Amino acid sequence: MNENFYITTAIDYVNGKAHIGHAFEKILTDVIYRHFKQRFDKTMFLTGTDEHGIKIQKTAKSLNILPIELCNQNVESFKNSWKLLDINYDKFIRTTSDEHKKIVQKIFEKLLKQGDIYKHSYKGLYCSGCECFLNEKDLENGLCPTHLKKPEIVEEENYFFKLTKYKDAIINHIKNNPSFIIPSFRANEVLNQLENIEDISVSRSINNVNWGIPVLSDSSQIIYVWIDALSNYITALGYDPDKEEQNETFKTFWPATCQVIGKDILKFHSIYWIALLMALNLPLPKHILAHGWITIDETKMSKSLGNVLSPENILNSFKLETPDAFRYYISSCANCGKDGNYSDIDFKEKVNADLANNMGNLLNRSLNILIKYFDGEIKDEFIVENEIIKIAKNTINKVIENFDKFQVAEATFEIMTLLNVANKYINDQAPWSLAKNGNLKEAGIVLYNVLEVMRYVSVLIYPYCPNIASNIAKQLKTNINIKLCDLGKNNLKAGKIITKEEIIPVFLRLDSEFAQNKK
Ligand code: MSP
Repeated sequence: MNENFYITTAIDYVNGKAHIGHAFEKILTDVIYRHFKQRFDKTMFLTGTDEHGIKIQKTAKSLNILPIELCNQNVESFKNSWKLLDINYDKFIRTTSDEHKKIVQKIFEKLLKQGDIYKHSYKGLYCSGCECFLNEKDLENGLCPTHLKKPEIVEEENYFFKLTKYKDAIINHIKNNPSFIIPSFRANEVLNQLENIEDISVSRSINNVNWGIPVLSDSSQIIYVWIDALSNYITALGYDPDKEEQNETFKTFWPATCQVIGKDILKFHSIYWIALLMALNLPLPKHILAHGWITIDETKMSKSLGNVLSPENILNSFKLETPDAFRYYISSCANCGKDGNYSDIDFKEKVNADLANNMGNLLNRSLNILIKYFDGEIKDEFIVENEIIKIAKNTINKVIENFDKFQVAEATFEIMTLLNVANKYINDQAPWSLAKNGNLKEAGIVLYNVLEVMRYVSVLIYPYCPNIASNIAKQLKTNINIKLCDLGKNNLKAGKIITKEEIIPVFLRLDSEFAQNKK
């Protein structure tokens, strides 16, 4: 297949460390990315950090360090978390990098020159949590509904972006492209917000905010913050507004296939970002995937409640050597676009049931029987495809259909259904009894079919659990780096595949004591 695939995440604020909400988004994106790598040749995954703004400026001041020092520390911590979780991004963009800053300044100047940005005196309510101005009607009991804080009154002469000029074009685009905003139920929310949009402030006075990118032609102003942040998706590809023809990377990957973000920042991505792209005369991303939020034990995570969990907390408390179980759980805990919840008990139950029992035990049992009766060898006469292989082939299609709609949780359901069928098949056929009773060929055929299903499962589960999947493939002596279109064309070959010593459980049940000893 020769299509190009470009996926991005939101870039995280660096005034703290990564928590499992940030981790959810990065894992979700990584799973989608790894799946599409199994289908497309040219793929790219971008993530990064959003480092400017008043919050960083204030936190750094309170710590008596420079904003860039705070950024450097926390960026390292984010990168370490993503490494721990096997987030396989191709590029990590920092909004404090010179390349990014230079292009953002050029974008601003271009928009100023063509009249999409203009100077205007303004008094309004500013929420530093959202890093944007709010209208009275956005507030709930006088507070920002997202950050539950009272916005400050800010009066300044700022630059404004003519958002209203693009209102009708954005409405038309959303209405004409039902899969542009995923899940589709959020499109109505955006259409309602569009009814009341006004032009937006895109700069702040340097007297109030100094940690940002200066406006090139006006040293009294700092570019603030959404033009800076949103542009990352194209500055990372080397976009240059002054060039007639863009570079190869940009031409290959823009427009993005899927931009993954949280529901709280959908307005910025489906309205501001789209207007900005229209103003730059650039094509629009194909899909914006707005995921839900992760709660912990059904409670919103917050510093004041002291319930913020980092991915490290979870891996350490369950003594997990790879992130696979957490990746699997978190990417299947919320249906497409819905909120999800993390709880220790659910986590343990889910991964014990799905990864240890349904998947790991099936492989382990089948390989042990193959050793016991056939010395680990698949004989030619065992290679007779049964109904169950048809089901496995069909599962590939169902997984693909789900991923085409970015239904990452729903796709795990298909893989688990296949494993349930395979477990039922081996229990019904009882190859151990067949072999004991001398029906060796029949026993061998059953084992071949089950192990062949495991080969399919290893490739289908790979985006979620890359380490477990590779371990399964290693024991089957098969190739994990196979494109999905070739999966059904291949099959396990005759010959000795495994020795007793090579059989290792791919996932051990989580010991309940670990969870109880958790700090
Ligand atoms: N810097 C902006 C995004 C700019 S994108 C051009 C920002 N940063 S953030 O650090 O606050 O959030 C980063 C991402 O993490 C967002 O998509 C946000 O929705 C997501 N999440 C933050 N907390 C979350 C949960 N509790 N659950 C799921 N995702 C959450 O917004």
